[in-house]
Amino acid sequence: MQVKKAIIPAAGLGTRFLPATKAMPKEMLPIVDKPTIEYIVEEAIKSGIEDIIIVTGKGKRAIEDHFDNSFELEESLVRKEKFDLLERVKESANVDIHYIRQKEPNGLGHAIWCARKFIANEPFAVLLGDDIVQSETPCLKQLINEFNTIQSSIIGVQQVPEHDTHRYGIIDPSTNDGRRYEVSKFVEKPKQGTAPSNLAIIGRYILTPKIFDFLEEHTIGSGGEIQLTDAIEKLNRIEKVYGYEFEGDRYDVGEKLGFIQTTIEIGLTRDDLKEPLLNYLKKLVKEYE
Ligand code: G1P
Repeated sequence: MQVKKAIIPAAGLGTRFLPATKAMPKEMLPIVDKPTIEYIVEEAIKSGIEDIIIVTGKGKRAIEDHFDNSFELEESLVRKEKFDLLERVKESANVDIHYIRQKEPNGLGHAIWCARKFIANEPFAVLLGDDIVQSETPCLKQLINEFNTIQSSIIGVQQVPEHDTHRYGIIDPSTNDGRRYEVSKFVEKPKQGTAPSNLAIIGRYILTPKIFDFLEEHTIGSGGEIQLTDAIEKLNRIEKVYGYEFEGDRYDVGEKLGFIQTTIEIGLTRDDLKEPLLNYLKKLVKEYE
């Protein structure tokens, strides 16, 4: 079966970015000139996803407005003959996105469960908004290509430093075929020093709908929340769930340093910004040396 649907959970409170996120969803914080969530939506579309559902919560209306037409703004850009900007603004309104609300903040596993009726009985993708991946082949596309061969759930992983493993879901790999790992165990946020490897789950997943049987159990896990990783661990006992070490640079825009780094890296990929930004960075380095 083909993967055509994707879930993007966006119901988190964004406490790490307070006070910026007091009245604005964290998914709308811009990297250069685009909200972080637009990078995620673009990756999904470039990977061949046709239907996206965003799981929102209280205070997330700006996301819906962003992916909608903005008649007054478009009119005004036409009048001012700012056609390039008009194109950019229209791009974000071109995608067909569905929304559902997570009514209680019960964790990632619960957010995914909220979208079960939209997914029905097909394999689907999950993209987490805190992870932006820059790669030649979109990260999700790499996973979909693998899925097309193995027809089994597969999760994006990358190596992280040993001292960071407690911040992630970690896989215990058994065997590997190139970048694809068979997994004997999935552990959500293992205590420091207890991680079975340094291969961390990064926010890209292809899952079969069987996962909903386990999310349905609403088992409370790490941090007092319903964890997706725990349901994946149970799924792996009855159907294989693979790990795939994808190619690409991953940025954690869910924390402050990662957010600043992403802004700089993506700024450096823009023709109009590259040179002045580089010059500025060089000047800074000299000043701080
Ligand atoms: C979530 C997942 C975790 C994964 C991480 C990747 O955690 O629960 O397994 O490693 O995303 O970003 P969160 O960062 O939302 O606490």
